[in-house]
Amino acid sequence: MKKIFSILAFILSACSFVVGQNSSLIKIQTDETMMVLSGATNQKLEFYYWGDKISGKLNFTERKQKNQPDTNDEMFPQAYPSYGERFYLTPALKLTHVDGVLTTDLIYDKHSMRNIDSNIVETTVSLKDKIYPVYVDLIFKAYQKENIISQSVKIRHEEKGILNVENIASSYLPLHAKSYYLTHFSGTWAHEMQATEEKLNRGIKVIESKKGVRATQAENPSFILSLDTPMQEDAGEIYAGSLAWSGNYKLSFEVDETGRLGITSGINPFASNFKLNAKEVLDMPEMLLTYSSNGVGKVSRNFHDWARKYGMQHGDKEHPIILNSWEGAYFDFNEATITEMIDNAAKFGVEMFVLDDGWFGNKFPRNGDNAGLGDWQVNNTKLPNGIDYLAKHTVSKGMQFGIWIEPEMVNPDSELAHKHPEWIVQSGKRDILPMRNQWLLDLTNPKVQDFVFDTFDEVVSQSPHISYIKWDANRHIDNVGSAYLPKDKQSHFWYEYVQGLYKVYERIRQKYPDIQIQLCSSGGGRVEYGALKYHDEFWASDNTNALDRIFIQYGTNLFFPSIATGSHVSTSPNHQTGMMIPLKFRFDVAMSGRLGMELQPKDLIGDEYEFAAKAVATYKAIRPTIQFGDLYRMVSPYSGNGWASHMYVAKDKKEAVFFAYSIENHGRTEYFETKLKGLDPNKNYKVTEINIQDYPKFTENGNVFSGDYLMKAGVILPIGNPFDSVVLQITEQ
Ligand code: DGJ
Repeated sequence: MKKIFSILAFILSACSFVVGQNSSLIKIQTDETMMVLSGATNQKLEFYYWGDKISGKLNFTERKQKNQPDTNDEMFPQAYPSYGERFYLTPALKLTHVDGVLTTDLIYDKHSMRNIDSNIVETTVSLKDKIYPVYVDLIFKAYQKENIISQSVKIRHEEKGILNVENIASSYLPLHAKSYYLTHFSGTWAHEMQATEEKLNRGIKVIESKKGVRATQAENPSFILSLDTPMQEDAGEIYAGSLAWSGNYKLSFEVDETGRLGITSGINPFASNFKLNAKEVLDMPEMLLTYSSNGVGKVSRNFHDWARKYGMQHGDKEHPIILNSWEGAYFDFNEATITEMIDNAAKFGVEMFVLDDGWFGNKFPRNGDNAGLGDWQVNNTKLPNGIDYLAKHTVSKGMQFGIWIEPEMVNPDSELAHKHPEWIVQSGKRDILPMRNQWLLDLTNPKVQDFVFDTFDEVVSQSPHISYIKWDANRHIDNVGSAYLPKDKQSHFWYEYVQGLYKVYERIRQKYPDIQIQLCSSGGGRVEYGALKYHDEFWASDNTNALDRIFIQYGTNLFFPSIATGSHVSTSPNHQTGMMIPLKFRFDVAMSGRLGMELQPKDLIGDEYEFAAKAVATYKAIRPTIQFGDLYRMVSPYSGNGWASHMYVAKDKKEAVFFAYSIENHGRTEYFETKLKGLDPNKNYKVTEINIQDYPKFTENGNVFSGDYLMKAGVILPIGNPFDSVVLQITEQ
């Protein structure tokens, strides 16, 4: 009987129900938040509210009499404005109809809701043009526990001919406050995810990429919007979003004459209009959104929880400690040097060895970045016994083995470039411009998709012991064009390239669900949720300098979890910056992400060797808290006071790990003091300093404190010199 009821309950919950005529409110809810839209048939879809859940009656429809003076229009903004009628601002949708008419007038038709599972409720709101057969579906997925709402859009039509879609956003978010503070993330190679906060004034602020590949290196399609005050960690209303898309994007923030802010997010319409045949469906990527009335700390925790469950691969499994060969060997290695590196890595307790660039190409050997890319056969001179020999050797030392590929790219000096010139992205007869001596393969072409899939497949098939792939992509797209796409569809390239890439990722994940894959892309080039979904982690930057990493990881971890943030200890002086930083500080920074190493282990000598081996062992003990715990930030590196500090707290609040870094010289007498966060006030915790160099800096090392004490009285640390740091392990007693 019980079984029949549960089957019935499942059938009912899986069924969608259509809410038709005159049902006036559409409520999209998570455990703590609520978004409310209007739902009146043949009326515009209005956006009433998004914020903390409201209990009791919702009086939004009664506000309707408050009209705009000039036009008599409603006060409420549209939830998905199209170009036409009186919408003068940046529209979510702009298209040209088959008869040449430039305007669109979308009205509510119906909506339906269904439980995808016990945590995800999907709401589809169907809009249609008042007089043309153009249909737009807004699809919202509300992730209950994580308080994330994703929005995506589908469009189709039944006009007689080709509809020209010039601009179609994934989401539009209208907000109203006295002032708006936008935090966004910009940078360049080795300096990614630098956070900038600015107050928005009347007009438009745009964050975008037109680079196609490595699109997140200079800007990221993520934003934080704080109402009425600059962003605070634990207070204030914050709206945040991150577009799950690996190509060109555009987020625009427009403050209009009424003081309202409209945020339009989606793929970049620049040079990207779509010719849509009747009945064809065009799908836009998901914009992931969250709201917090208690500051940005909660925003990060929402995204991290969501990402571990839905936004990445293997987010529920501990990620291994890696030694990657790049900075330790570059292109200059052979079998003997690599096996020596593997042996030394094993002695440290490292769990995975990754062979980076330089292992392939025979006619055009890959001894530098100028040749061989595209020819994915092992270089017989460097590695005469092949990859399986190295992989087996690695496994025999108790580690896993991984290998580097860059399958979307090709050097002009390669067998592939000579064989398939038509596969290369090119703008008609113009020069194909090289970047890092390489060209890009045209993933709009299904044959190229097959090649990229086969490359992955063949590389992995070299040894049953390959468990990790580092997927690189070291250039962006210029002189765009495709020899595959027809001439009237060249503007589809930007979108189709990414869809081609996703098709390949899908096939790979179907065949290799267990393999770990890193999104590298020059470091920082694909830090976004469109690609991360298929990957285990990303390489946040090629800059391994610990001081810079504090800033890069701060920005990155506002949205993306530490378990996905590859963070490697490299040698000193640092190869990117020349800066010399103590090994302890380098470990203390790297251990706050997915720890790894990026050096020649034999270069660590004396005390350094011992320190590193101990730190690797320590990381294994604190890893569950770092990789699965809740992130609380105490001091931002941008605070200007010369310190940075944050901590991870296990979900059951039995364990926490605290990090504090001095990033400036504070003089002899200044000291750092901070209150801890996220602990259970009623528990007692032993606080032990870990990664100690010479002597503990925490003078109360090993003492037991109540959670309440640690969160109210805090800790005092004498870390005043640049590159002083302390890591504390906090364990329930
Ligand atoms: C760029 C990556 O970010 C590096 O880690 C390394 O893999 C090189 N490419 C190899 O060419």
